[in-house]
Amino acid sequence: MASVQSDEKEHHRDSEEEDEDDDEELESAFMRNQDAVVKSRTSVSAEAYGQWNQKQVFQAPEFPKTPEQHARLRTILLRSFLFASLAEKEMETVTLAMQEVRYSAGQGVIQEGDDGDCLYIVEEGKLSCLKMINGANQVVKICEPGDIFGELALLYNCPRAASVVAQEEAICWSLDRDSFNNIVKEAAALRRTRYEGFLKSVQLLAEMGDYERSQIADALKSETFQQGDVIVKQDETGDRFYIVETGSLAAFKNGEKMMEYHVGDYFGELSLIEHQPRAASVTVMSETAIVLSLDQKAFNKMLGPLQALLSQRAYT
Ligand code: CMP
Repeated sequence: MASVQSDEKEHHRDSEEEDEDDDEELESAFMRNQDAVVKSRTSVSAEAYGQWNQKQVFQAPEFPKTPEQHARLRTILLRSFLFASLAEKEMETVTLAMQEVRYSAGQGVIQEGDDGDCLYIVEEGKLSCLKMINGANQVVKICEPGDIFGELALLYNCPRAASVVAQEEAICWSLDRDSFNNIVKEAAALRRTRYEGFLKSVQLLAEMGDYERSQIADALKSETFQQGDVIVKQDETGDRFYIVETGSLAAFKNGEKMMEYHVGDYFGELSLIEHQPRAASVTVMSETAIVLSLDQKAFNKMLGPLQALLSQRAYT
């Protein structure tokens, strides 16, 4: 496939015109406010005020939804790592700002190299992500319900890193760049930057592509523990996989110390892979420890390709 046709350019042109209108509106609102402020407070710098003012003026679009659509969308957003941590007010703004888009089998959604002006979350159906590698389009990911795509161009202000085509009939929800930037981006970008650096240093994940690591960064839960806290209990059913971000921990089997874990080490994989109870307890040895974890679903999905590597670890 030499090129993937996408609807995005048309959409992009429309939103450029809207952007210009928005910019004019923003500018005149800014000028109105600026006049008022200059009269009352001369000590506020124009630049700082400009930033503050833009946040105040930003008005996310609202696309009317039936109660059923609204409920469906909320369920998907609450399950997604990028959106789940939004406060209630922001979650509602994002829900209203999203637009339902339906694709038929074979229809292009995103073209690699284009400018991007929105991201998507999949409600139904499968879509292929393809990258031009050595002159041929190769599938790099299949997006399924709950997955987000099109976020890279928005997070990093870069051209589309891959093409996306519907494999079958699909229902997605799109969120425009401005709403994303104003409501979600800051927290999402910070999170990715924070964890990507660390995850790169984790030996287990060293060979993984940057994109795959960013997906892990989105899904991680970070918890701080105190000395003596037991994170995993022997014989209990396991449902999470752990990576040590700071501190040191030790595994105990029937009270006997088996091994230690330090920064970048992982544990908890065995019972998730073997579907067996926890083979040992893991306790915090340092004063405090920060431990990152993935639930079983994210573990299967994101570390599935590493299972052979994970299973090679020798335990006594
Ligand atoms: P974006 O670059 O905005 O548009 C194309 C999307 O494809 C990209 O965001 C990601 O959401 C998605 N994608 C899936 N797999 C990959 C990959 N291996 N590299 C880059 N993008 C990918």
